[in-house]
Amino acid sequence: MEQKIEQLLSQLTLEEKLDMIHGAGLFRTEGVERLDIPAFYFSDGPHGVRAEFQNSKWISAGNDDDYVSYLPCNSALASTWNRELAYASGSVLGEEARGRGKDMILAPGINIKRSPLCGRNFEYLTEDPYLAGEMAIQIIKGIQQHDVSACVKHFAVNSQETDRLMVDTLVDERTLREIYLPAFKKAVQEGGSYSIMGAYNKLNGEHCCENPVLLDEILRKEWGFDGTVVSDWAAVHRTKEAAEVSLDVEMSVTDDFDNYYLANPLKELIQKGEIEEKLVDNKVRNILRMMYRLKMLGEEKTLRSSGAYNTPENRKAMLAVARESVILLKNENKKLPLEPKNMKKIAMIGQNARMLHANGGGSSEIKALYEINPLMGMKMLLGGNTKVCYAPGYMIPTKEQESEVNWQQDSVNLETMAAVQVPVELRDFTDTEEGKRLLEEAVALAKECDEVIFVGGLNHDYDTEGNDRGTMKLPYGQDKVIEALLQVKPDMTIVIVAGSPVEMPWKNQAKAIVWSYYAGMETGTALAEVLLGKVNPSGKLAETFPYTYEDTPTGKNGEFGKPGKVEHKEGVFVGYRYYESKEVETSYCFGYGLSYTEFVLEDLAVSADGGSVSKDATGDICVSLTVRNIGSREGAEVIQLYTGPAEKSDEHPVKELKNFVKISLEAGESKKVEMKLTAEDFAHYDIEKKAFVTKPGVYKIMMCTSVQDIGLVGEWNYQN
Ligand code: BGC
Repeated sequence: MEQKIEQLLSQLTLEEKLDMIHGAGLFRTEGVERLDIPAFYFSDGPHGVRAEFQNSKWISAGNDDDYVSYLPCNSALASTWNRELAYASGSVLGEEARGRGKDMILAPGINIKRSPLCGRNFEYLTEDPYLAGEMAIQIIKGIQQHDVSACVKHFAVNSQETDRLMVDTLVDERTLREIYLPAFKKAVQEGGSYSIMGAYNKLNGEHCCENPVLLDEILRKEWGFDGTVVSDWAAVHRTKEAAEVSLDVEMSVTDDFDNYYLANPLKELIQKGEIEEKLVDNKVRNILRMMYRLKMLGEEKTLRSSGAYNTPENRKAMLAVARESVILLKNENKKLPLEPKNMKKIAMIGQNARMLHANGGGSSEIKALYEINPLMGMKMLLGGNTKVCYAPGYMIPTKEQESEVNWQQDSVNLETMAAVQVPVELRDFTDTEEGKRLLEEAVALAKECDEVIFVGGLNHDYDTEGNDRGTMKLPYGQDKVIEALLQVKPDMTIVIVAGSPVEMPWKNQAKAIVWSYYAGMETGTALAEVLLGKVNPSGKLAETFPYTYEDTPTGKNGEFGKPGKVEHKEGVFVGYRYYESKEVETSYCFGYGLSYTEFVLEDLAVSADGGSVSKDATGDICVSLTVRNIGSREGAEVIQLYTGPAEKSDEHPVKELKNFVKISLEAGESKKVEMKLTAEDFAHYDIEKKAFVTKPGVYKIMMCTSVQDIGLVGEWNYQN
């Protein structure tokens, strides 16, 4: 392949090469017809293949053939803790992207959830680097088997939306290595991602797309990445700097394609002798390599997958993911599942019972083939013997006329960005006349029904690209509505559909709480199946749900959601690493989620080098245990393995996820689970040595069903 690349490269003129390294449309670069190099087509990502835009305008192409499968958002996918489903989800995305004629899908989004307020959290997987990496590997492999490139994004530390183009993210070396980089490293090294997207933000003083430390030293030299680095749309700011680092393709949002930094301005610098042409050659090499891998060039072209979209199999796969993504947070007195026989008339109250979420949130918006909302899901499943009534319960103002120009055009222009980037305020209309009427109507309906299911939460006015939330509280006065309803129906079920955690001040009063992220086209089906017991919930939180924002590390240090500079003062103590180490109580902890059955963990055995734990063990450490389903129905449990120092220190988190297995068991059944660890799994980054080092000492190995439900503890004594 390298020979073929050199041969092609030697035939290209400077103009042709430059054409390949910058956008010639909002979602494409130019090809070279005379050499049979095709134009290269991109699409968002990550929740399906985005609808077509006109080549150079952020205006819909107006097609009727670009409806697609709408995937559960990445937060939902991570909640399945199921690697096979991550692969299946990637496969749907890749197949549909190729089916729509794309060469690269701008997915998956894997940034670490640093604060519950980040507007794009719903697009990201988790607060934990290990879980993020494991899921990313599978998503990428799933995508790329269809001869479409994944583009893992946004590299790196793009964990806030406020001032997203200019914010300078200040992160120390150890935190970078332990928290923010590992998932990207796995994505390129183990997932084999052909492409990676440079983020908008600055990292330690330098824009990510012009950042030699990030792109040259870490990504290329250390990790050996030989794929293509694509800029986020309008993330390049200077020609020389972008040309000199290992960024390969500049994409942007304006239609003056020839004036992009890596177009005519670069040509001029080369002609003046200020930049060497060989820098362009390197970029083109990386692009051609990706094209060969995608079977876009030469004889292999005839072997390229054709893809397909909207297949029945894809819908089934999306339903499977949605089912496992639903998280049962509370189930006092076994309130759930509901028994249809006892339900002559039920009420579904709350706007998320009806609202559709596919077509929102920013660049991950999707023109969904369909989306089953919770109300429809329940009606479809309950059938004709139960009357299902709906009441909105609270007011959401209707949007003004949608503009035909997409928000994205203004979202990355420094002058117009301010208009797009407005602080998301909580809006509460419960005191208006209409608000009062809606609440009274809902309370009256609740009183006359056998069951009440409240379905509220957030929507993409809050979970959205370009803005962070200002608070974790529920908008539209929903807390008041929930409390009023609980007074007349103390045993009502509360369902929250959202993309990021919310405060739940009514949590102790409630009997049953169910959480659903935006779970794709089958959201309502999966939710109804869980509520009615056709599916036993097995979703687990891939992020901590704190009580209030003030309890979070960034809530404490104030270093989030402000423009200018944001310092990661909490260091490696992100997510549960913070709550567990600093003993801060949370509403629901990382890894948590209930089932309709019960599991116990038994017989932990930890051995190294095939024998018992030896003091100088340096080889694989085998951990085994038995999981037993002691309840009366089949179900699935996620066995989580955390490690931590036996003696608490201020330096290291007390628990860190190092492995997990999801396992299905019939009632009464038990299975042996085995996991392996190596000395590297106990390592931390040593700034002086510039390497991960495992210090001698005693470590705990904790086998859990959540970060707090520690079933069994073993020890490993490491002496080197
Ligand atoms: C987003 C990316 C997206 C790109 C193209 C940007 O605004 O940050 O995630 O892939 O636009 O739409």
